[in-house]
Amino acid sequence: MYLRSIEIKNFRNHIHTFIEFSDNLNLFIGGNAQGKTSILEAISYLCLTKSFNASSDSYVLNFKAKFFEVSGRFELENGREINVRVNFEDSQDKKIFFNKEEVDKFSSIIGKLPIVILSPRSKEIVQGHPEDRRRFFNLAIAQLSSVYTDELIDYKKVLRQRNKVLSAIANDDIKIGQGLDLLDVWDESFINYAGRIIFRRMKFMSEFVGFFKNAYSKFDEPEDVEIGYITQIEISPIDDIEAMRKKLKNALHKVRNEEINRGITLIGPHRDEFVFKIKGHELRRFASQGQMKSFLVALIIAQFFYLKEKKVETPILLLDDVFGELDLKRAERLLSIVGDIGQVFITATDLNLISGIEEKFRVKKFIVNSGTVTNA
Ligand SMILES: Nc1ncnc2c1ncn2[C@@H]1O[C@H](COP(=O)(O)OP(=O)(O)OP(=O)(O)O)[C@@H](O)[C@H]1O
Ligand SMILES: [Mg+2]
Repeated sequence: MYLRSIEIKNFRNHIHTFIEFSDNLNLFIGGNAQGKTSILEAISYLCLTKSFNASSDSYVLNFKAKFFEVSGRFELENGREINVRVNFEDSQDKKIFFNKEEVDKFSSIIGKLPIVILSPRSKEIVQGHPEDRRRFFNLAIAQLSSVYTDELIDYKKVLRQRNKVLSAIANDDIKIGQGLDLLDVWDESFINYAGRIIFRRMKFMSEFVGFFKNAYSKFDEPEDVEIGYITQIEISPIDDIEAMRKKLKNALHKVRNEEINRGITLIGPHRDEFVFKIKGHELRRFASQGQMKSFLVALIIAQFFYLKEKKVETPILLLDDVFGELDLKRAERLLSIVGDIGQVFITATDLNLISGIEEKFRVKKFIVNSGTVTNA
């Protein structure tokens, strides 16, 4: 699939921007704070219903405007056209139209137009907290299985309720018998959602590991790298969802007293960890900056190829400010791995950082200056 064109209104410093893209490489060149990343954010709205950078729609709404709009025209592998429009009006709910039809549930369109993103914020995946890694894998899995996002949302709701009951018991706000009865009620749906989520994460990881190792050795010198999924229950690749539920039930039973004492839920996907290791040592604590970078790029390449294999549509790839961070050799490798497979959007402050690519790829260059975009 590829994005043919985009129209952006009142989005960050873009008042009105219309761009027609190359189906291969698109370069956005401009100084700092000119509006390059904003274009990638707008693209991410079309595929993921939100920005990869901003936690709220109101942050990307132009300071002086009352609404923003992003529309994009995609062409699928089979030649079909998809139009997506995102509308946000101050103090109103965001609206999304998929081929003119309003989308009721935003999670339902995630994965239809697959996208993979590497931006300065992606560093959090390798350097940040377990939560940052869960966010990365959650989005990766959500693009593969459309029910996963709903299961996560439902799980979080149940978790909140369950924690409320536990905290009420811990603080003597409720009679213990009554509290335990309530807990039993919540436990049923808790185990149900948690089991599904753990199952999908395990399945994903069992396949993704191979993609990751392959990506790493293509991008950098072969190295002993590992990624793993750790959940508090002992899981085995032959477990089905029912087996997960049983194990969760037993595990909850074991920690019940401790949960009641502490007033919080101690087991479940919200506490799962994705671990990264290099030469047997935890990446976050022991790896050099360069090793972390290579690890991160390999994760992104792996995500790209995994999605590509699983979906009918080839994902689009956003590379925000990546080329200032990589040395020339690695930058070239990254492009030679993904550059001739699909559509890539690249931002850079300096064309020299990505010199030489025009001979190898179909490149369209754009100059971005104070929120206006011109063909170079
Ligand atoms: N809601 C907003 N309304 C108007 N302008 C905004 C808004 N949010 C951010 N900006 C401004 O929009 C501009 C574009 O930001 P953007 O992140 O796209 O720049 P960039 O070209 O990627 O720069 P850099 O090279 O520094 O990453 C910045 O000047 C920023 O201050
Ligand atoms: Mg930027």
